[in-house]
Amino acid sequence: MWLPCRCTTKYVAASIRRGVSASSLHALRRGRSSWNSAAFMPESAGFEGVSGRDALHDYSVSHSENFWAAVARQRLNWIRPFEAVQDCDLSQGRIKWFEGGKLNVSVNCLDRHVHTCPERVALIWERDERGSEVRYTYRELLEMTCRLGNLLRRHGVKKGDCVTIYMPTCPLAVASMLACARIGAAHNVVFAGFSSEALAERIRDAQSSTVITVNQGVRGGKITELKRTVDAAVQSCPTVRQVFVAMRTEKRVEVTDRDFALEEEMLKEDVVCEPAAMDSEDVLFLLYTSGSTGKPKGLVHTQAGYLLYAALTHRYVFGYHDGDVFGCVADIGWITGHSYTVYGPLANGGTTVLFESTPVYPDPGRYWDMVERLRINQFYGAPTAIRLLIRYGDQWVKKYDRSSLTTLGSVGEPINTEAWEWYNRVVGEGRCPVVDTWWQTETGGICIAPKPSEPDAEIVPGMAMRPFFGIKPALMDTEGKLLTSNNASGALCMAQPWPGMARTIHNNHQRFLETYFQPYPGYFFTGDGAYRSQEGYYQITGRLDDVINVSGHRIGTAEIEDVVNQCSAVAESAVIGYSHSIKGQGVYAFVVLKKGVDMQEADLSKELNSMVSEKIAKYACPDFIQFAKRLPKTRSGKIMRRVLRKVVDCDLDSLGDLSTLDDPAAVQEIIEGHEKLLSK
Ligand code: WTA
Repeated sequence: MWLPCRCTTKYVAASIRRGVSASSLHALRRGRSSWNSAAFMPESAGFEGVSGRDALHDYSVSHSENFWAAVARQRLNWIRPFEAVQDCDLSQGRIKWFEGGKLNVSVNCLDRHVHTCPERVALIWERDERGSEVRYTYRELLEMTCRLGNLLRRHGVKKGDCVTIYMPTCPLAVASMLACARIGAAHNVVFAGFSSEALAERIRDAQSSTVITVNQGVRGGKITELKRTVDAAVQSCPTVRQVFVAMRTEKRVEVTDRDFALEEEMLKEDVVCEPAAMDSEDVLFLLYTSGSTGKPKGLVHTQAGYLLYAALTHRYVFGYHDGDVFGCVADIGWITGHSYTVYGPLANGGTTVLFESTPVYPDPGRYWDMVERLRINQFYGAPTAIRLLIRYGDQWVKKYDRSSLTTLGSVGEPINTEAWEWYNRVVGEGRCPVVDTWWQTETGGICIAPKPSEPDAEIVPGMAMRPFFGIKPALMDTEGKLLTSNNASGALCMAQPWPGMARTIHNNHQRFLETYFQPYPGYFFTGDGAYRSQEGYYQITGRLDDVINVSGHRIGTAEIEDVVNQCSAVAESAVIGYSHSIKGQGVYAFVVLKKGVDMQEADLSKELNSMVSEKIAKYACPDFIQFAKRLPKTRSGKIMRRVLRKVVDCDLDSLGDLSTLDDPAAVQEIIEGHEKLLSK
């Protein structure tokens, strides 16, 4: 794997403009009882009469154009200034920001910092092998990115192409993303836990001709054959012309005509790579995520708006300051890794940790050992890992010095009160605010979080609470009417556009409109439900569609059903999410076999599990498979999932209205089958 080498980088961007003045931040850090908006956020200095967090938030939504224009001018480095701040119409699903502007995202993430502080550490690669971390300075990361950019260019990758990256979290993966941005290609990072079929589907949909991967992955002490997975995937991807293979381990892997050794090829390249001048609304990346149908959707994020929003939220939600070490442990294959391991921290000139391992490898002290060793200031992780670690006891945390920590973040799923309290009390010793951050692949960055807030403002456990600057949430009732009062629950929508939101679904704008803009005309619909408290704080209540969240990973129940139904023994199936003490949600599958099938249930379960693992990923495998003679259906033939959900949650008292059922006896059979399965 590419290691830092000490040659000088010739190219540095000519001009930079950073908005944060160190002295004003120090004033704030010394602690004031009330907010001075301009000291807190230098970009807001020109907002007349705005003082205090709430006033700044009000301004950001009531004078949205002024707000975003000021922030965009000061936080990003433009090749050509933008002419229009926004051209958005949510009722049409049209979202455009900073048109007329030209910039390069990699220059914003690298060159401008190389110009001011070339030897600052950009990446700390916390390799799977504990204690073997490697640091990369901004100069080294720029050099790596430039070599990779030149390599891609020499191999015919052009502006507008889309490169698929199938790699674990590592410096070359970050450099690959930035190299794409440098030359104007889009990237499509596919989580390295996805199977070859899932990878192939994403490569085909993105029409990639180039794939970047590693020979093998190393995680939790185990080796995964990533190159082999790519080989299997590209067999059904006629568009793929070339595969670049980095060496994470020493192991040589089989090579074909289309394979190139990444590090060897990079050595042939120059360390200067001319950045492409990109329009604000050119595509930066696609990222596939699950929806309520079987086909994952390639959400499209563009250049300026996405980068600005990732940078601003990273800076203010986490209180990130120059010199801090930011530790986001999410995989780069998910949006959290994109926005808060890569783009947000690097746009802010930060030091970001690339975590390759698992929370329990080689022991359950891994996170906190890493916090001590790397002196991490902000730690950002998922509730599922916190719940897992609680089980191992406090001693694994207390063993390590966590005095560097200032903020603890949570993302991906609701954080239950027990996990929140433990995170706050044991990990943070009660001194670090816990920020429960709500957002989605679609939103590009954090939309609701307790911070930023006034220094002594309350934080309610398990609540995302406060909309970020420029975010205006709205709740809708079941009739689609806007709920205006507090102490209300409804479908969570956004009433205003913001720069970080996705622009479309790759190759399927119609699906984009139908999913997000047509359910509540004039609003962006998130797919989640939320409660607004008496005080006006938001709490996320969960998905309203058939998407479940397993260990913080999103998966559509329809995707799993599609695979299960491909089994020749299966007549039909229904997959339900149920509440799981560690994973948040687990997968429960009801399966009806075809008549005359004569197979042991245990064998069938095994087969179905291996099918899901091969066609999607291991995390999507059912925890329980209940074989049933039939499923409860309405008279019109629709499966009554509501009933199945209640059965699985053992909530038989609220099965609700069963009068539309075709045959009520089916429910009794399902209940009995469920009891039998649990008693096994
Ligand atoms: C869920 C992850 C409750 C939610 C950044 C959302 C959450 C989906 C939270 C997006 C939270 C994310 N509290 N639920 N703090 N954060 N979710 O696209 O259902 O992988 O719609 O993005 O995760 O998942 P995605």
